[in-house]
Amino acid sequence: MYICLCHGITDSQIRNCVRAGARTLGDLSGTLGVATQCGSCATSACEVLDQTLGSATPADAPAA
Ligand code: FES
Repeated sequence: MYICLCHGITDSQIRNCVRAGARTLGDLSGTLGVATQCGSCATSACEVLDQTLGSATPADAPAA
């Protein structure tokens, strides 16, 4: 599913970017260009980011 139409970025690309180390929307913007044009994808991109971080394996999860 496309998240960022301006740059043709899909949710899969965002998940892969998070698994590669992205932790903020700024990280995604710097790597993929998400939310750097019209900005309307920022909310959706954050949702995918949060979902992916939330589903990280216990070893990757921050200490509570
Ligand atoms: S849809 Fe992502 S910057 Fe426009």
